[in-house]
Amino acid sequence: MKSVKDYIRTIVDFPHEGILFRDVTTLFADPRGFRMAVDQMLHPYAGMQIDKVVGLEARGFILGGAIAHQLTLGFVPIRKKGKLPGATLSESYTLEYGEAVMEVHDDAIQPGEKVLLVDDLLATGGTAEAGIKLIERLGGEIVGCSFIVDLPELGGRKKLEGLGMGVDVLCE
Ligand code: PRP
Ligand code: ADE
Repeated sequence: MKSVKDYIRTIVDFPHEGILFRDVTTLFADPRGFRMAVDQMLHPYAGMQIDKVVGLEARGFILGGAIAHQLTLGFVPIRKKGKLPGATLSESYTLEYGEAVMEVHDDAIQPGEKVLLVDDLLATGGTAEAGIKLIERLGGEIVGCSFIVDLPELGGRKKLEGLGMGVDVLCE
């Protein structure tokens, strides 16, 4: 039987020379692969109280939407700068290949709400750290951070665990 990892392909030198890009579009395009990934991401959280699912732009929207629907919960997007129409909080961060700013609507999470943070991939952890800061600035309590892929050599998991986060990944 195929594992989640078997559905992910690696593209060499995208978006820059030297980057091995883990392309999850092949996983999302396969009904068995997509279902397997969503089910496996949910598994560690069975029976836990979660109030909202937060997804990081852009691939975290695909997963976060599916997970929120499966749990009958609301979904909150954390977006790159300038995309959200309402009043926002912002956090800047450094990527494996660049710099960016993430934003969340300032009324998207209520103080004390339990939040599951979702994205496709953990590399340096900069994107997820920005997401964590935004959620915590709104008073959300993060129950866990769930990813399909971890690139351990880039240190993201250690960074998030150093912030006291529970981190779940499906493959490396
Ligand atoms: C990718 C990935 C994560 C982030 C991980 O998104 O989907 O969000 O990078 O990298 P980090 O752990 O080093 O922060 P990307 O910024 O490429 O944006 P996209 O999903 O909009 O293409
Ligand atoms: N985001 C940051 N690094 C990445 C990689 N190597 N593959 C896919 N997405 C990424």
